[in-house]
Amino acid sequence: MSTFSEQYTYFQALAENVLETSVVLPQEAWSLKEMPRRLAEAMRYSLLCGGKRIRPVLLLAAYQSNQDDLSPVLPFAAAVECIHTYSLIHDDLPAMDNDDMRRGQPTNHKVYGEALAILAGDALLTLAFELMASSKLPRALDAVRILASRAGANGMIAGQTLDMDQKVSGNTAGLVRYIHRRKTADLITAPVEMGFVLGGADERVLTAARAYGQALGMAFQITDDLLDQKGNPEVTGKAIGRDKALGKLTWPAVVGVEQAYKDACTAVNEAVNAADNLGKNAGFFRSLANSIPKRVK
Ligand code: IPE
Ligand code: IPE
Ligand code: MG
Ligand code: MG
Ligand code: MG
Repeated sequence: MSTFSEQYTYFQALAENVLETSVVLPQEAWSLKEMPRRLAEAMRYSLLCGGKRIRPVLLLAAYQSNQDDLSPVLPFAAAVECIHTYSLIHDDLPAMDNDDMRRGQPTNHKVYGEALAILAGDALLTLAFELMASSKLPRALDAVRILASRAGANGMIAGQTLDMDQKVSGNTAGLVRYIHRRKTADLITAPVEMGFVLGGADERVLTAARAYGQALGMAFQITDDLLDQKGNPEVTGKAIGRDKALGKLTWPAVVGVEQAYKDACTAVNEAVNAADNLGKNAGFFRSLANSIPKRVK
């Protein structure tokens, strides 16, 4: 029996390996055979600079619940991280959160300029679908649909849209919950759901997987909001105090820091309960949920 952190590291290493090979650095500045070298550099710059890889880890843990050989699902693990990375590149742009640091280094547009940052994001989003489309797994198309819908206009983009519109008034708590659910929990739920779908899990498990992902995602974004207030930039790899400076609607801004922490723990408990129905890796999913409010990056 390996520990939670050994399991996490194992899944993380698999994700790193497949990501490394997902965008090859061309020899020439431009040629008809390959993508422009500068574009590949910009894509690799953000993709391979050490995120936590929680989304591919979730996908691999979910798939392993029903299958021993993880190799067929690696393109899906890479795809989810490509979409997440594109969302970060675009989220950091001057037109959005206007951030200078990400994953411990200057943001993509700071290094490559806004045009190439936008294009690198576009290319990572498209690459995700190319990677998944190469799969021969029987339920591949279901997984593609899940990721498309959770990342798209009714998912992450819906959350990002309202996150940008700070003039919305009315039910603030409800609105922040909506934003968190869409911009973050959907892209955390997607890999859990995809991993179980691809592995062949039944509907009862899929219902629990969705509940787990949503609760984990809510806890994850509340913690992200808390880290923006009191995290260590050396550890998080991004600046603090940005939400306040931008007038963002965050959970601590609505209920206060202490209550926000408690609410993150409540969401974790929901996730832990849902994990009971997740089969072989239930212990891993529980430990991952419990680690969220304690996370420092
Ligand atoms: C940051 O995501 C954006 C949010 C949805 C809060 P992560 O905290 O997973 O960032 P990385 O991938 O580890 O850099
Ligand atoms: C971003 O939320 C969620 C995305 C879909 C990218 P934040 O704007 O709070 O994420 P950070 O704090 O920049 O990582
Ligand atoms: Mg944002
Ligand atoms: Mg941001
Ligand atoms: Mg944030």
